[in-house]
Amino acid sequence: MIKKNANSPVPIKNLFNKLTIEDLNIKGKRVFIRSDFNVPLDDNLMITDDRRIRSTLPTINYAIDEGAKVILSSHFGRPKGKKDPRLSLAPVAKRLQRLLNKEVIFSPDCIGSQVEGLVSNMKEGDVLLLENLRYHPGEEENDEEFARALSRLADIYVNDAFGTAHRVHASIVGITRFLPSAAGFLLKKEIEYLKGMIVNPVRPFVAILGGVKVSGKIGVLENLVDKVDKVIVGGGMAYTFIKAIGYEVGNSLVEEDMFETAQRIRKKLKGMGIKFYLPVDCVIAQSIEPGTETKTVPTIEIPKGWRALDIGPASVKLFSEAIQDAKTILWNGPMGIFEIDAFSRGTYAIARAVADAYALTIVGGGDTDLAVYRAGVSDAMSFISTGGGASLQLLEGKELPGIAALTNKEDK
Ligand code: 3PG
Repeated sequence: MIKKNANSPVPIKNLFNKLTIEDLNIKGKRVFIRSDFNVPLDDNLMITDDRRIRSTLPTINYAIDEGAKVILSSHFGRPKGKKDPRLSLAPVAKRLQRLLNKEVIFSPDCIGSQVEGLVSNMKEGDVLLLENLRYHPGEEENDEEFARALSRLADIYVNDAFGTAHRVHASIVGITRFLPSAAGFLLKKEIEYLKGMIVNPVRPFVAILGGVKVSGKIGVLENLVDKVDKVIVGGGMAYTFIKAIGYEVGNSLVEEDMFETAQRIRKKLKGMGIKFYLPVDCVIAQSIEPGTETKTVPTIEIPKGWRALDIGPASVKLFSEAIQDAKTILWNGPMGIFEIDAFSRGTYAIARAVADAYALTIVGGGDTDLAVYRAGVSDAMSFISTGGGASLQLLEGKELPGIAALTNKEDK
């Protein structure tokens, strides 16, 4: 959904020069769709959040409607090349069956004669889900033989796993050597929004960065330097910036080896006339246990033994005002430990402020995605990425191996 602002940029269509599923005749063909079904489970192995599954439904439904034999695959967790029943994709097969409203055949393995037999019995429009790719060490090793074994199941390869597009794995990269390889709708949409925002942002462009570590976001900051008008830094990473300036931050987490980098980037932004915002107040506690005593203090007055765990109300006001005139907003990283009620207000308030902004609003995957969902404003965002590490890598201006490996349109 593109919301509200007529001046908001639309995703740039011609940024994507790879084959897409629509460019191929898939009727009657065996189509291997690599998805990212790496969803959270509770202790009873029930899926607690199926948005990653839902986001790839357009590609799956398209393949079904076109009469393909649809072979779905994914990794699940990190079983390190061994079978682990707690990391089976069986719960995903059940959820898919409900979401697609049709039978989903579940294959107990992803390669070998048994799955080859199941595939050979498939009819047009049938759907089969393979067991966790990472039960085999060859997946993460990008092993050629494993990739070849996967490719034997299909005539066409489609990648719709944006969340895993930064991994050089057999089902992401290796397999593309053996099959015509196209993007699914989700993968294409992610690139068009995320890359489109970097290449051609409608200004003012405001980046809100949070999360724990400066080191995880520095590449994004460096890449956005000549595109943004304002940078807002919250979350744990803010305290590395604040301490680097010379203020005490109590027990707040800091990355000492990033002090120099933090100072350099802050000065660089300032020198370029880019406004840079840090929290002016914060919610502090001595531990992160739920129910622990909390206080709200100015960020430059955090007492010894206390730790900043959320931004305070004055920071919410400052940040919310800073994004009011934005036409493009990128938000990646929460403002505090929002998973604990006492430290969630700042993140949720920023989620609401972003949702209310008259702008194209793009939210990075991972924690930020969950925060926006819990704040109840997912539907008000223009685009929420399904990728954590993958979206960061793209925002750093790097090429994603899973996209680079797909067939170029002109090579069709
Ligand atoms: C994710 O959840 O970020 C993706 O599914 C990738 O998972 P990985 O970090 O285990 O490769």
